[in-house]
Amino acid sequence: MHKKLFIPGPVEIHPEILAAMSSPMIGHRMKEYAELHGRVTSGLKKLLFTEGKVFLATSSAFGVMEGAVRNLVGTRCANFCNGAFSDKWHDVTLRCGKQADAINFDWGKPVTPESVDKALSTGKYDSMTMIHNETSTGVMSPLAEIADVMKKYPDVMFIVDTVSSMSAVKLPVDELGIDSCIFGVQKAFALPPGLAVFTASEKALQRAAKMDGRGYYFDFMEFAANDAKDNTPSTPCISLIYAMDRQLDRMFEEGLDVRWARHADLAEYVREWVTSRGFELFPELRYCSQTLTCSRNSRSIDLALLKKRLGEDGFAFDDGYGKIKGQTFRIAHMGDMTRSDLNELFGAIINIMPELA
Ligand SMILES: Cc1ncc(COP(=O)(O)O)c(C=O)c1O
Repeated sequence: MHKKLFIPGPVEIHPEILAAMSSPMIGHRMKEYAELHGRVTSGLKKLLFTEGKVFLATSSAFGVMEGAVRNLVGTRCANFCNGAFSDKWHDVTLRCGKQADAINFDWGKPVTPESVDKALSTGKYDSMTMIHNETSTGVMSPLAEIADVMKKYPDVMFIVDTVSSMSAVKLPVDELGIDSCIFGVQKAFALPPGLAVFTASEKALQRAAKMDGRGYYFDFMEFAANDAKDNTPSTPCISLIYAMDRQLDRMFEEGLDVRWARHADLAEYVREWVTSRGFELFPELRYCSQTLTCSRNSRSIDLALLKKRLGEDGFAFDDGYGKIKGQTFRIAHMGDMTRSDLNELFGAIINIMPELA
Protein backbone atom coordinates (compact mmCIF):
# COMPACT_ATOMS: atom_id res chain seq x y z
CA MET A 1 0.00 0.00 0.00
CA HIS A 2 1.26 3.48 -0.83
CA LYS A 3 1.49 5.69 2.22
CA LYS A 4 0.49 9.25 1.38
CA LEU A 5 3.42 11.43 2.39
CA PHE A 6 2.95 14.13 5.00
CA ILE A 7 6.61 14.02 5.99
CA PRO A 8 8.83 17.00 5.10
CA GLY A 9 10.31 15.40 2.06
CA PRO A 10 10.19 13.47 -0.10
CA VAL A 11 6.63 14.55 -0.77
CA GLU A 12 3.76 13.34 -2.92
CA ILE A 13 4.39 13.51 -6.65
CA HIS A 14 1.69 14.62 -9.06
CA PRO A 15 0.79 12.00 -11.71
CA GLU A 16 1.71 14.46 -14.49
CA ILE A 17 5.22 14.54 -13.08
CA LEU A 18 5.46 10.78 -12.93
CA ALA A 19 4.28 10.69 -16.54
CA ALA A 20 6.87 13.28 -17.57
CA MET A 21 9.56 11.08 -16.03
CA SER A 22 8.70 8.25 -18.35
CA SER A 23 9.49 10.30 -21.46
CA PRO A 24 11.80 8.38 -23.84
CA MET A 25 15.49 8.76 -23.05
CA ILE A 26 17.80 11.10 -24.92
CA GLY A 27 21.57 11.45 -24.85
CA HIS A 28 22.89 14.34 -22.82
CA ARG A 29 25.21 15.41 -25.63
CA MET A 30 22.30 15.52 -28.11
CA LYS A 31 20.69 18.79 -29.15
CA GLU A 32 17.41 17.60 -27.61
CA TYR A 33 19.08 17.65 -24.21
CA ALA A 34 20.53 21.12 -24.74
CA GLU A 35 17.02 22.36 -25.57
CA LEU A 36 15.59 20.77 -22.43
CA HIS A 37 18.43 22.07 -20.28
CA GLY A 38 18.14 25.59 -21.66
CA ARG A 39 14.39 25.65 -21.10
CA VAL A 40 14.68 24.37 -17.53
CA THR A 41 17.46 26.74 -16.49
CA SER A 42 15.54 29.68 -18.03
CA GLY A 43 12.47 28.68 -16.04
CA LEU A 44 14.55 28.42 -12.88
CA LYS A 45 16.05 31.87 -13.45
CA LYS A 46 12.55 33.27 -13.68
CA LEU A 47 11.49 31.47 -10.50
CA LEU A 48 14.62 32.52 -8.61
CA PHE A 49 14.61 36.08 -9.99
CA THR A 50 18.23 35.76 -10.99
CA GLU A 51 20.32 36.78 -13.95
CA GLY A 52 23.21 34.76 -12.55
CA LYS A 53 24.09 31.18 -13.33
CA VAL A 54 21.75 28.35 -12.42
CA PHE A 55 23.23 24.87 -12.47
CA LEU A 56 21.70 21.40 -12.32
CA ALA A 57 23.55 18.76 -10.31
CA THR A 58 22.68 15.10 -10.18
CA SER A 59 22.88 14.57 -6.45
CA SER A 60 20.98 15.22 -3.29
CA ALA A 61 21.26 18.69 -1.76
CA PHE A 62 24.22 17.80 0.43
CA GLY A 63 26.32 17.10 -2.63
CA VAL A 64 26.07 20.74 -3.64
CA MET A 65 26.22 21.95 -0.04
CA GLU A 66 29.60 20.25 0.16
CA GLY A 67 30.48 21.54 -3.31
CA ALA A 68 29.74 25.13 -2.33
CA VAL A 69 32.07 24.82 0.64
CA ARG A 70 34.84 23.39 -1.51
CA ASN A 71 34.43 26.10 -4.15
CA LEU A 72 33.72 29.15 -2.02
CA VAL A 73 35.26 28.85 1.43
CA GLY A 74 38.75 30.31 1.41
CA THR A 75 40.12 31.51 4.74
CA ARG A 76 37.32 30.72 7.19
CA CYS A 77 33.61 30.02 7.17
CA ALA A 78 30.91 31.02 9.64
CA ASN A 79 28.34 28.21 9.73
CA PHE A 80 25.12 29.45 11.33
CA CYS A 81 23.63 26.43 13.08
CA ASN A 82 20.04 26.25 14.34
CA GLY A 83 19.03 22.65 13.71
CA ALA A 84 20.06 19.27 12.39
CA PHE A 85 20.81 20.22 8.79
CA SER A 86 22.75 23.38 9.57
CA ASP A 87 24.71 21.50 12.27
CA LYS A 88 25.55 18.89 9.66
CA TRP A 89 26.66 21.57 7.19
CA HIS A 90 29.22 22.72 9.77
CA ASP A 91 30.47 19.17 10.11
CA VAL A 92 30.65 18.87 6.30
CA THR A 93 32.62 22.14 6.13
CA LEU A 94 35.20 20.76 8.57
CA ARG A 95 35.31 17.44 6.74
CA CYS A 96 36.20 19.35 3.58
CA GLY A 97 39.32 20.48 5.44
CA LYS A 98 38.12 24.08 5.78
CA GLN A 99 38.57 26.37 8.77
CA ALA A 100 35.11 27.06 10.17
CA ASP A 101 33.22 28.09 13.28
CA ALA A 102 29.72 27.08 14.25
CA ILE A 103 27.59 29.99 15.42
CA ASN A 104 25.03 28.11 17.45
CA PHE A 105 21.40 28.83 18.29
CA ASP A 106 19.07 26.72 20.36
CA TRP A 107 16.94 24.44 18.23
CA GLY A 108 13.68 26.20 17.46
CA LYS A 109 15.36 29.60 17.21
CA PRO A 110 16.10 31.44 13.98
CA VAL A 111 19.40 32.75 12.70
CA THR A 112 19.23 36.46 13.49
CA PRO A 113 20.60 39.44 11.54
CA GLU A 114 22.31 40.64 14.74
CA SER A 115 24.22 37.39 15.14
CA VAL A 116 25.32 37.53 11.50
CA ASP A 117 26.52 41.10 11.93
CA LYS A 118 28.33 40.25 15.15
CA ALA A 119 30.15 37.27 13.66
CA LEU A 120 31.11 38.92 10.38
CA SER A 121 32.21 42.18 11.99
CA THR A 122 35.16 40.25 13.48
CA GLY A 123 36.59 40.18 9.96
CA LYS A 124 37.52 36.52 10.44
CA TYR A 125 35.29 35.11 7.75
CA ASP A 126 35.27 35.12 3.96
CA SER A 127 32.13 32.98 3.73
CA MET A 128 29.00 32.07 5.62
CA THR A 129 26.43 29.31 5.36
CA MET A 130 22.89 29.30 6.65
CA ILE A 131 19.68 27.39 6.12
CA HIS A 132 16.67 29.49 5.27
CA ASN A 133 14.13 26.93 6.41
CA GLU A 134 15.47 24.50 9.04
CA THR A 135 13.38 21.46 8.25
CA SER A 136 14.31 19.71 11.50
CA THR A 137 12.68 22.39 13.66
CA GLY A 138 10.23 24.12 11.30
CA VAL A 139 12.01 27.46 11.63
CA MET A 140 12.19 29.98 8.81
CA SER A 141 14.93 32.53 9.49
CA PRO A 142 14.41 36.17 8.44
CA LEU A 143 16.39 36.00 5.22
CA ALA A 144 15.59 39.49 3.92
CA GLU A 145 16.87 41.08 7.15
CA ILE A 146 19.97 38.90 7.10
CA ALA A 147 20.50 39.82 3.45
CA ASP A 148 20.46 43.50 4.43
CA VAL A 149 23.25 42.85 6.92
CA MET A 150 25.19 40.87 4.32
CA LYS A 151 25.30 44.00 2.12
CA LYS A 152 27.80 45.40 4.66
CA TYR A 153 30.14 42.48 3.93
CA PRO A 154 30.51 42.27 0.16
CA ASP A 155 33.63 40.10 0.38
CA VAL A 156 31.88 37.40 2.37
CA MET A 157 30.26 34.64 0.32
CA PHE A 158 26.58 34.36 1.20
CA ILE A 159 25.71 30.67 0.82
CA VAL A 160 22.11 29.76 1.53
CA ASP A 161 20.29 26.43 1.64
CA THR A 162 16.69 26.86 0.50
CA VAL A 163 16.05 23.12 0.30
CA SER A 164 12.63 23.18 1.94
CA SER A 165 11.49 26.69 1.01
CA MET A 166 12.38 27.30 -2.63
CA SER A 167 9.25 27.92 -4.74
CA ALA A 168 6.95 28.02 -1.69
CA VAL A 169 7.89 31.59 -0.79
CA LYS A 170 9.34 34.39 -2.87
CA LEU A 171 13.14 34.16 -2.85
CA PRO A 172 14.60 36.76 -5.19
CA VAL A 173 18.18 35.53 -5.26
CA ASP A 174 19.81 38.60 -6.88
CA GLU A 175 17.94 41.14 -4.80
CA LEU A 176 18.92 39.25 -1.65
CA GLY A 177 22.51 39.20 -2.84
CA ILE A 178 22.87 35.45 -2.38
CA ASP A 179 26.10 34.16 -3.92
CA SER A 180 25.04 30.55 -3.98
CA CYS A 181 21.48 29.44 -3.38
CA ILE A 182 21.13 25.68 -3.09
CA PHE A 183 18.17 23.34 -3.02
CA GLY A 184 17.15 19.78 -3.70
CA VAL A 185 13.89 19.08 -5.48
CA GLN A 186 12.20 16.50 -3.25
CA LYS A 187 10.60 19.02 -0.92
CA ALA A 188 8.78 22.22 -1.88
CA PHE A 189 9.47 21.49 -5.56
CA ALA A 190 7.57 18.21 -5.27
CA LEU A 191 9.78 16.11 -7.52
CA PRO A 192 11.35 12.76 -6.75
CA PRO A 193 14.81 13.03 -5.13
CA GLY A 194 18.08 13.02 -7.04
CA LEU A 195 18.41 16.49 -8.55
CA ALA A 196 19.87 19.56 -6.88
CA VAL A 197 19.90 23.11 -8.16
CA PHE A 198 22.37 25.84 -7.30
CA THR A 199 23.08 29.39 -8.35
CA ALA A 200 26.43 31.12 -8.60
CA SER A 201 26.88 34.87 -8.62
CA GLU A 202 29.69 36.47 -10.62
CA LYS A 203 31.53 36.95 -7.33
CA ALA A 204 31.12 33.27 -6.52
CA LEU A 205 32.52 32.23 -9.87
CA GLN A 206 35.50 34.53 -9.43
CA ARG A 207 36.18 33.09 -5.99
CA ALA A 208 35.82 29.52 -7.24
CA ALA A 209 38.19 30.13 -10.12
CA LYS A 210 41.00 30.82 -7.65
CA MET A 211 40.15 28.08 -5.18
CA ASP A 212 42.30 24.97 -4.74
CA GLY A 213 40.73 21.61 -4.02
CA ARG A 214 37.45 22.08 -5.82
CA GLY A 215 37.46 18.45 -6.88
CA TYR A 216 35.64 17.49 -10.04
CA TYR A 217 32.03 16.48 -9.50
CA PHE A 218 30.94 19.77 -7.94
CA ASP A 219 33.52 22.04 -9.50
CA PHE A 220 31.68 25.32 -10.21
CA MET A 221 34.08 25.98 -13.09
CA GLU A 222 33.12 22.70 -14.77
CA PHE A 223 29.46 23.61 -14.35
CA ALA A 224 30.02 27.07 -15.82
CA ALA A 225 31.95 25.73 -18.82
CA ASN A 226 29.28 23.18 -19.61
CA ASP A 227 26.42 25.57 -18.96
CA ALA A 228 27.69 27.68 -21.84
CA LYS A 229 26.61 24.72 -24.02
CA ASP A 230 23.39 24.12 -22.06
CA ASN A 231 24.94 21.04 -20.59
CA THR A 232 26.30 19.47 -17.42
CA PRO A 233 29.82 18.18 -16.64
CA SER A 234 28.69 14.57 -16.26
CA THR A 235 25.60 12.59 -17.22
CA PRO A 236 22.57 14.24 -15.61
CA CYS A 237 19.39 12.61 -14.28
CA ILE A 238 17.53 13.34 -17.50
CA SER A 239 14.22 11.83 -16.32
CA LEU A 240 14.19 14.20 -13.36
CA ILE A 241 15.00 17.12 -15.62
CA TYR A 242 11.95 16.23 -17.72
CA ALA A 243 10.02 16.25 -14.47
CA MET A 244 11.45 19.64 -13.53
CA ASP A 245 10.48 21.00 -16.94
CA ARG A 246 6.88 19.94 -16.38
CA GLN A 247 6.84 21.13 -12.76
CA LEU A 248 8.10 24.59 -13.72
CA ASP A 249 5.27 24.82 -16.27
CA ARG A 250 2.81 23.76 -13.60
CA MET A 251 4.19 26.41 -11.21
CA PHE A 252 3.84 29.18 -13.78
CA GLU A 253 0.37 27.89 -14.76
CA GLU A 254 -0.66 28.07 -11.10
CA GLY A 255 0.95 31.51 -10.86
CA LEU A 256 3.80 32.22 -8.45
CA ASP A 257 1.71 34.61 -6.35
CA VAL A 258 -1.00 31.98 -6.06
CA ARG A 259 1.56 29.31 -5.17
CA TRP A 260 3.08 31.45 -2.42
CA ALA A 261 -0.39 32.34 -1.11
CA ARG A 262 -1.40 28.66 -1.12
CA HIS A 263 1.63 27.77 1.00
CA ALA A 264 0.89 30.64 3.41
CA ASP A 265 -2.72 29.50 3.68
CA LEU A 266 -1.77 25.87 4.33
CA ALA A 267 0.74 26.91 6.97
CA GLU A 268 -1.89 28.94 8.79
CA TYR A 269 -4.41 26.12 8.45
CA VAL A 270 -2.08 23.55 10.03
CA ARG A 271 -0.96 25.91 12.78
CA GLU A 272 -4.57 26.58 13.66
CA TRP A 273 -5.37 22.84 13.68
CA VAL A 274 -2.52 21.88 15.99
CA THR A 275 -2.78 24.84 18.36
CA SER A 276 -6.56 24.53 18.71
CA ARG A 277 -5.90 20.96 19.88
CA GLY A 278 -3.57 22.09 22.60
CA PHE A 279 -0.20 21.59 20.93
CA GLU A 280 2.31 24.41 21.17
CA LEU A 281 4.25 25.45 18.09
CA PHE A 282 7.94 24.59 18.46
CA PRO A 283 9.24 27.92 17.04
CA GLU A 284 7.93 31.34 17.90
CA LEU A 285 4.96 32.09 15.62
CA ARG A 286 6.77 34.74 13.58
CA TYR A 287 9.53 32.28 12.69
CA CYS A 288 7.25 29.37 11.86
CA SER A 289 7.96 27.81 8.50
CA GLN A 290 5.57 28.24 5.59
CA THR A 291 6.22 24.69 4.39
CA LEU A 292 6.04 22.53 7.51
CA THR A 293 4.75 22.85 11.03
CA CYS A 294 6.80 21.55 13.91
CA SER A 295 4.76 21.24 17.11
CA ARG A 296 5.70 20.27 20.63
CA ASN A 297 4.04 17.12 21.86
CA SER A 298 2.39 19.23 24.56
CA ARG A 299 -0.32 16.63 25.23
CA SER A 300 2.21 13.81 25.54
CA ILE A 301 0.38 11.65 23.03
CA ASP A 302 2.01 8.40 22.00
CA LEU A 303 3.59 9.67 18.78
CA ALA A 304 5.22 6.36 17.90
CA LEU A 305 1.84 4.64 18.14
CA LEU A 306 0.15 7.38 16.11
CA LYS A 307 2.81 7.09 13.43
CA LYS A 308 2.40 3.31 13.32
CA ARG A 309 -1.40 3.42 13.16
CA LEU A 310 -1.37 6.17 10.52
CA GLY A 311 1.06 4.04 8.53
CA GLU A 312 -1.40 1.14 8.65
CA ASP A 313 -4.10 3.52 7.39
CA GLY A 314 -1.93 4.73 4.50
CA PHE A 315 -0.36 7.92 5.82
CA ALA A 316 3.33 8.67 6.41
CA PHE A 317 3.62 10.87 9.50
CA ASP A 318 6.72 12.32 11.13
CA ASP A 319 7.35 12.10 14.87
CA GLY A 320 10.22 14.57 15.06
CA TYR A 321 13.81 14.69 13.86
CA GLY A 322 17.14 14.20 15.58
CA LYS A 323 17.34 15.17 19.20
CA ILE A 324 13.71 16.39 19.31
CA LYS A 325 12.23 13.15 17.96
CA GLY A 326 9.31 12.10 20.14
CA GLN A 327 9.12 15.54 21.76
CA THR A 328 7.82 17.13 18.55
CA PHE A 329 5.99 16.14 15.41
CA ARG A 330 6.14 17.70 11.97
CA ILE A 331 3.41 18.05 9.37
CA ALA A 332 4.57 19.03 5.90
CA HIS A 333 2.44 21.35 3.77
CA MET A 334 4.58 21.88 0.74
CA GLY A 335 4.68 21.11 -2.95
CA ASP A 336 1.36 20.39 -4.59
CA MET A 337 -0.54 19.91 -1.35
CA THR A 338 -4.02 21.34 -0.73
CA ARG A 339 -6.30 21.77 2.27
CA SER A 340 -8.23 18.70 1.23
CA ASP A 341 -5.05 16.56 1.51
CA LEU A 342 -4.54 17.91 5.01
CA ASN A 343 -8.16 17.20 5.90
CA GLU A 344 -7.57 13.55 4.99
CA LEU A 345 -4.66 13.42 7.42
CA PHE A 346 -6.54 15.23 10.16
CA GLY A 347 -9.51 12.88 9.71
CA ALA A 348 -7.22 9.87 9.99
CA ILE A 349 -5.56 11.26 13.14
CA ILE A 350 -8.93 11.85 14.81
CA ASN A 351 -10.03 8.37 13.86
CA ILE A 352 -7.07 6.95 15.74
CA MET A 353 -7.13 9.42 18.63
CA PRO A 354 -10.73 10.65 19.03
CA GLU A 355 -9.62 12.83 21.93
CA LEU A 356 -8.01 15.13 19.32
CA ALA A 357 -11.35 15.85 17.60
C1 LIG B 1 17.07 22.20 4.98
C2 LIG B 1 17.70 20.94 4.49
N1 LIG B 1 18.95 20.98 4.03
C3 LIG B 1 19.55 19.87 3.58
C4 LIG B 1 18.93 18.66 3.56
C5 LIG B 1 19.64 17.48 3.04
O1 LIG B 1 19.16 17.17 1.81
P1 LIG B 1 19.60 15.86 1.04
O2 LIG B 1 19.21 14.70 1.91
O3 LIG B 1 18.79 15.99 -0.19
O4 LIG B 1 21.05 15.91 0.80
C6 LIG B 1 17.62 18.56 4.02
C7 LIG B 1 16.91 17.27 4.02
O5 LIG B 1 15.91 17.07 4.67
C8 LIG B 1 16.99 19.73 4.49
O6 LIG B 1 15.74 19.70 4.94
